[in-house]
Amino acid sequence: MRQAFGGIDFGTSNSTVGVIRDGKARLVALEGEQATLPSAIFFNFEDGHTYFGRRAIGDYTDSVEGRLMRSLKSVLGSSLVNEKTRIKARLLGFTEIIGFFIGHLKKQLEQDAGGPVERVVLGRPVQFVDDDAQADAKAQAELEKAARTQGFKHIAFQFEPIAAALDYEQNVSREELALIVDMGGGTSDFSVVRVSPERARSVVRKDDILANRGVHIGGTDFDRLLSIAHVMPELGYLTPTKDGKRNLPASYFIDLATWQRINLVYTAKAMNDLRQIRYEAVRADLVDRFIEIVEHRYGHAMAGLVERAKIALTLQPAAEVKVSLPGARFAAEITRTGLEETITADIDRVTATVRQTIQDAGVEASDITAVFLTGGSTAVPLARRRILSLVPQASVIEGDMFGSVGLGLALDAQRKFA
Ligand SMILES: Nc1ncnc2c1ncn2[C@@H]1O[C@H](COP(=O)(O)OP(=O)(O)OP(=O)(O)O)[C@@H](O)[C@H]1O
Ligand SMILES: [Mg+2]
Repeated sequence: MRQAFGGIDFGTSNSTVGVIRDGKARLVALEGEQATLPSAIFFNFEDGHTYFGRRAIGDYTDSVEGRLMRSLKSVLGSSLVNEKTRIKARLLGFTEIIGFFIGHLKKQLEQDAGGPVERVVLGRPVQFVDDDAQADAKAQAELEKAARTQGFKHIAFQFEPIAAALDYEQNVSREELALIVDMGGGTSDFSVVRVSPERARSVVRKDDILANRGVHIGGTDFDRLLSIAHVMPELGYLTPTKDGKRNLPASYFIDLATWQRINLVYTAKAMNDLRQIRYEAVRADLVDRFIEIVEHRYGHAMAGLVERAKIALTLQPAAEVKVSLPGARFAAEITRTGLEETITADIDRVTATVRQTIQDAGVEASDITAVFLTGGSTAVPLARRRILSLVPQASVIEGDMFGSVGLGLALDAQRKFA
């Protein structure tokens, strides 16, 4: 049997599983040949099965009846975690649902290992919750519980940017003072570390980790902000009530724009509220579109269109979110400039966090010799531009955008468990 340990990068948007094979870190195939698995679960009400990843999203977009859940990691440490979700006759807690997803990853890991695997290093953001140590500890405990319930017996945690640093270090040829940047779907994490071919061999690395910091901002926040600014107005957001005293209440618009809150607009209470809101709205025609989207359970699909537009704006100056349901036909054009204006306050917080990380490390920005980029949101031009401008003299190394953390967690598991 192969070595029975692994590393799991349970990501907000994508997950990977890393193992050591023939002395090298590599990623386990999770869905066909693919090493990444979108962090999505679909409870199919028609056949009673649970599906994961691309298959989950595919079933949902084929409008099979059921419940899709994405961005589950964002629920850890939030108030949502204590709520239950109705899956047909069953009421499931979020920790249980996260457990199903971890269990699925464990199954792939065991298939690859050819036997049971009970030892795992789980990645974690530097902060699950910003500036609240107690809530943060609770979030980690929830993730640990989810993993333990699935049969992992020896569970260790590692910061995601440190895992990325371990992956990066495999390929350095000289000593570097590196800034590790991992911007994903839910969080942006940074480390300042000393790496070198010699240091890579030593087990105790505390002295080489000069600073870690993270902030709860990632690509799913950009999706939410983009949707609120450019799509929700097409559904009545920021339009007034007939009495002219106020605008329509914002909360359902925000829920529909937020990946992990979309299911909240699919309740009977929400539909009643929406009908009332429509009755009071000057632009009832726009609220009708909202209701149509809810009735067609089109929320995740629309969030997917917004995300796709955001990704398109990485390469092109304009993109469109086009919805063509019978009762909701509209197209919202978004420009690169529009995106950048929408996310600029978040990017300010991200860059402030980078600056603070360098300061914590007790070094000057000019001492940083290399910057290692990983995570899908490092592709966002504004984020990349602003972060790189803080360390203009450092050489830029592009990591495996979606795989570095998983590979590094396998290396960490080797240190801890081999
Ligand atoms: N080319 C691109 N341009 C802009 N954003 C992108 C691009 N490719 C992917 N993204 C965004 O990157 C995010 C996913 O990145 P990644 O898979 O690294 O996150 P994650 O590991 O799941 O999240 P986290 O580490 O925060 O838990 C998504 O928000 C996705 O929209
Ligand atoms: Mg990640």
